[in-house]
Amino acid sequence: MKIFFAPASPFVRKCLVAAAELGLRERIELVSAAAHPVNRDKNVVAHNPLGKIPTLLADDGSVLYDSRVICEYLNALGDGHLLPREGNARWSVLAEQALADGICDAAVLTRYETFARPEPLRWNEWIAGQLEKVTSGLDLIEERAAGFADRVDLGTIAFGCALGYLDFRFASLAWRDNRPHAAAWFERFGERPSMIDTRPK
Ligand code: BEZ
Repeated sequence: MKIFFAPASPFVRKCLVAAAELGLRERIELVSAAAHPVNRDKNVVAHNPLGKIPTLLADDGSVLYDSRVICEYLNALGDGHLLPREGNARWSVLAEQALADGICDAAVLTRYETFARPEPLRWNEWIAGQLEKVTSGLDLIEERAAGFADRVDLGTIAFGCALGYLDFRFASLAWRDNRPHAAAWFERFGERPSMIDTRPK
């Protein structure tokens, strides 16, 4: 399998952490891709009209995106332990993943707005609106983090990658302030080899 990848992407990281936890990491070749909202990478667009990463080229020729589809595919290829098979537990993990991805979406859009958009065109209220989504999402993680215990699934992996992205690109947000449960959980979860090996540099 091949995955179009950029080391800073929290969505790519989520897939690689999931692959490592499932024992599939060695089966995935990383293909560097440019992740830019305007100048799209032609190599990615050739497989995915959205031009987004991660995009996975599976061994049977299928092309899979986005990160949620890739994670479910990897989970099915492996032993399936990252997502409960049915019932409320399944919906709960998927909703957690959606929460974490939403935080990442808002953070990445903020990053694009400040780094890719020409300064005269920036819209500060829009940036503030995105950062409010990040903050409210973090508050919900804080409410729940004491209950995460030693869970390793698509929900907690997605949370770990979202918090790691905030550390990497938004250190000034100081998300740990007033969020002791999330901070303590992330300290432990971040020590997993799958998280250490994929830490953005
Ligand atoms: C970043 O550099 O922050 C980034 C790169 C790829 C995807 C998302 C974010």
